[in-house]
Amino acid sequence: MSDHDQTGQEAQSRISAAEDLSALEALRVEYLGKQGSISGLLKTLGKMTPEERQEKAPAIQALRQSVTDAITARKAELEAAELEARLATETLDLTLPAPQAPQGSVHPVSQVMDELAEIFADLGFAVATGPEIEDDWYNFTALNMPESHPARAMHDTFYFPDTAPKGGKMLLRTHTSPVQVRTMLAEGAPLRIIAPGRVYRSDSDATHTPMFHQIEGLVIDKGIHLGHLKWTLETFLKAFFETEDIVLRLRPSYFPFTEPSVEVDVGFAIENGKRILGGSGDEAGHGWMELLGSGMVNRRVIEMSGLDPDEWQGFAFGVGVDRLAMLKYGMDDLRAFFDGDTRWLNHYGFSPFDQPTLSAGVGARS
Ligand code: DAH
Repeated sequence: MSDHDQTGQEAQSRISAAEDLSALEALRVEYLGKQGSISGLLKTLGKMTPEERQEKAPAIQALRQSVTDAITARKAELEAAELEARLATETLDLTLPAPQAPQGSVHPVSQVMDELAEIFADLGFAVATGPEIEDDWYNFTALNMPESHPARAMHDTFYFPDTAPKGGKMLLRTHTSPVQVRTMLAEGAPLRIIAPGRVYRSDSDATHTPMFHQIEGLVIDKGIHLGHLKWTLETFLKAFFETEDIVLRLRPSYFPFTEPSVEVDVGFAIENGKRILGGSGDEAGHGWMELLGSGMVNRRVIEMSGLDPDEWQGFAFGVGVDRLAMLKYGMDDLRAFFDGDTRWLNHYGFSPFDQPTLSAGVGARS
């Protein structure tokens, strides 16, 4: 047997014994790499005479070919075995249940805001928004509260150090009323909007949190009067509380941005220590609960919002959304709204499938 035959046989048996791809690669380098032994043999051909080369070259080239083929074949075997092994560990158990989906719930405040948007959309109101970081001018001045106005002091405002574009300071809006001014300036009249959103006041106890939610309503048109306001509020509250038995009491009040101003109370009865809406608050065992502020938009506000108050009139109202949620769904501590306690959220939260619609009822079942 020639030397080449022996090298060839030895290489074949080492290649077929290679246990994995890296062992095989080491053999390839050993035989066929730049410094490999078969590559070395090939190099010797260059130094031979043509006759010698003619005689020796076929055997060396045959050796290189057989080792190359053996490596290719073994590589295919090893790769197939590796794939088999991987497939065997990656079985899919079709009887497994689906993984638990992350479960969240819709916060009662969001749910109530959706309910309100649905009710007012039916009455032709669009949803408007404004910034929470507000300019003093929109939050106060344009709402008929000039700098020295005493009502400003009642708002416990959070101020920023920055000077606002219109003078004064930047602040966290203390109510949603500035959206009235912004919308009139941007869209003119006639208008029918609600503006739900966050508002901020430096105040904190069982019934006050530094951030809470309001919804503002504004109607601007020709010949609008208090009767329109009363009908709208009655219609909205009956739809929201899903009862025809809603009795309102309109009480004269004062807000700088409305004239006349009206505070609206709703009659309730006490049953088993709980307040149940319905009936006149003057009946025995009943009472009145203050629900919202409203009134005819002050001429000065209409003027500062770029409209002619002799041509356009309107009414506005502002309601606490958190308060509406507490009344409708029976929570009694406002602070729990913002604790993020998952037990509370699971109990009072709503399913995302519980979309409020007028046809199915805006009262979602949690
Ligand atoms: N902005 C008032 C507040 O936060 C609520 C309010 C009262 C809004 C009367 C109105 C309104 O639009 O007409 O206390």
